[in-house]
Amino acid sequence: MVVERDQDIPSSRVPIIDLSNPDQELVARAVVKASEEWGVFQLINHGITTELIQRLHDVGRRFFELSEAEKKDVAKLDDSREGYARRYTLDLEKRIGTVDQLFHNVWPPSAVNYSYWPKNPQDYREVNEEYTRQVKMLSEKIMEWLSVGLGLRREAINEVVGGEYLLNVNYYPPCPHPDVIEGLDAHTDISGLTLLLTNEIPGLQVFKDDQWIDVEYIPFAVIVNISDQILRISNGKYKSVLHKTTVDKEKTRMSWAVLVRPTNDMVVGPFTELIGDDPPKFKSMVYKDYIYRKVRNLPFVDLDS
Ligand code: OGA
Ligand code: NI
Repeated sequence: MVVERDQDIPSSRVPIIDLSNPDQELVARAVVKASEEWGVFQLINHGITTELIQRLHDVGRRFFELSEAEKKDVAKLDDSREGYARRYTLDLEKRIGTVDQLFHNVWPPSAVNYSYWPKNPQDYREVNEEYTRQVKMLSEKIMEWLSVGLGLRREAINEVVGGEYLLNVNYYPPCPHPDVIEGLDAHTDISGLTLLLTNEIPGLQVFKDDQWIDVEYIPFAVIVNISDQILRISNGKYKSVLHKTTVDKEKTRMSWAVLVRPTNDMVVGPFTELIGDDPPKFKSMVYKDYIYRKVRNLPFVDLDS
């Protein structure tokens, strides 16, 4: 059984980790190593069924294919982070393509506002609730492995960054100029951890060793990105991967990103257990202040910058 196909050869392939391996220690080590070296990996045989993923894709695609008027039922309001909105409109000069997005919280129940969940298709809610249950189990497993990899209690990372789950569905319509246009420009995710599914159109690229690397499309694989808050709590041990997306000339690309994130008032900074010999590289910050600064491109007063 292949756990890490790229084990010994330096390669430009994002690590692929098979979760069905009975040697869970080996799996845990592969997850830790990929998070230290890449900040991104692909999980196969992760336990979320193919059928559920197909249904998730189906209800998401059917929502985005509704008329603009129908989609406006769940429109994002100015001061809300949830809802449907056009993120970018094609602009050749600025080299940006059209990207539509739907955001809504999926967990915990107290953070869920169903007025932002599509009513059409009718089974949208049932399918997304089931996917949330399953993806949350997977994300908690990953956070356990990452906590143990830092020499901490299993629950340590989840207690800081696992407070809320936000779903972000991206819809990239075909673009006549894929050579000059990007989908989402280069960024690291603000969250703790991102678990991503995509449709069959490749387009995700990650930055490693001074080059952009295509993330190979593996049907039904879950792509895991380590994001900013896990970088910070691990004092830089786990990488927050820089990534971007391309668009396709003829086909619509879609992706489903589940952002695992601290609650707004959570203070996030390097675990004190990790800063003995190593000085802290990041300043502790309330999560909502971190978001405020990052979305406005304001500098951080981190101790390493
Ligand atoms: C994102 C993101 C990647 C993709 O939503 O932050 O990076 O493949 N999406 O669409
Ligand atoms: Ni991203």
